[in-house]
Amino acid sequence: MSLLDWYDRYGRDLPWRRTRDPYAVWVSEVMLQQTQVATVLPYYERWMARFPTAASLAEAPEEEVMAHWQGLGYYRRCRNLLEGVRRCVANGFPVGHDAWRSMPGVGDYTAAALASILDGEPTPVVDGNVERVYARVCADDSVGDTRRRAARAWAQTLISHERPGDWNQAIMELGATVCRPRNPRCEACPLQSECLAFARGLTDSLPTPKPRPTTVDRTHPVAVWRRADGAVGMVQAQEAEWWAGLWVLPTPSAIGQLIASVTTTVTHHRVVLSAYEGVGEPPTGLRWVTRGELPAVPIPAPFRKLLTKLGF
Ligand code: ADE
Ligand code: SF4
Repeated sequence: MSLLDWYDRYGRDLPWRRTRDPYAVWVSEVMLQQTQVATVLPYYERWMARFPTAASLAEAPEEEVMAHWQGLGYYRRCRNLLEGVRRCVANGFPVGHDAWRSMPGVGDYTAAALASILDGEPTPVVDGNVERVYARVCADDSVGDTRRRAARAWAQTLISHERPGDWNQAIMELGATVCRPRNPRCEACPLQSECLAFARGLTDSLPTPKPRPTTVDRTHPVAVWRRADGAVGMVQAQEAEWWAGLWVLPTPSAIGQLIASVTTTVTHHRVVLSAYEGVGEPPTGLRWVTRGELPAVPIPAPFRKLLTKLGF
């Protein structure tokens, strides 16, 4: 069975595969950057229900937009998406890889996905799934950039020129659902007859694992100031900070009593968020957020957890 035949038969029926609207497909591809399909689905549905068109997103209040991203992480993606969609509402949508690539937050990978799906451009998408399928089918035990380049060249020769978007989604899907990292379902795989790893019994050792990046422990102290009415003092994280644009607890100027902490992971850092009782006068410029306002304010998930622990 060919890869496209397999995809037509077994590909998942996902909402962004039922539309040709560049805005809707763009939203899906940005959400799918570093996030799995199953996680993305409910966010995508909520997003499209609230912002069904590019114009509706472009004119929405930024805070409400960010609130709809809350929990997906990597908030820069959301800000870039909003900025890009606003530009497109004014000037029209890009066509082709290079034009998509010029949109904020759209790298090679997303540009290739969008150009192939929306514009019929035969540019391969190479993600971890595609690399894994390649490494197994070709029994390539290389790692890193070497393997990525080889996977790209392989996909470039195989991609369908009639249905490049479907081909790209098919190979990603095969990697996600059949040629899984562990226990690949070779018995259900359309590439089995040409797969060298299968023929040689190497599916468990390919792709060659790379040594895990060591996680770094960090503590991130924050201060909790309460107003008499129970409101909590928050600040908007700056551009260069982890939670850029979202509302977080301020950095303490003096260390008070430790009242709660939560652990979270940010890129390769294991971060212990420690909340200290605010000492002395709260800094000027705090935004006082009342209990009633909290659900609508875009707050990173670990901070929300911390606030819950603190009884807000
Ligand atoms: N990952 C990124 N884009 C995808 C898509 N369109 N289908 C499946 N997985 C993806
Ligand atoms: Fe992956 Fe097995 Fe298919 Fe080879 S036969 S591509 S190892 S699922």
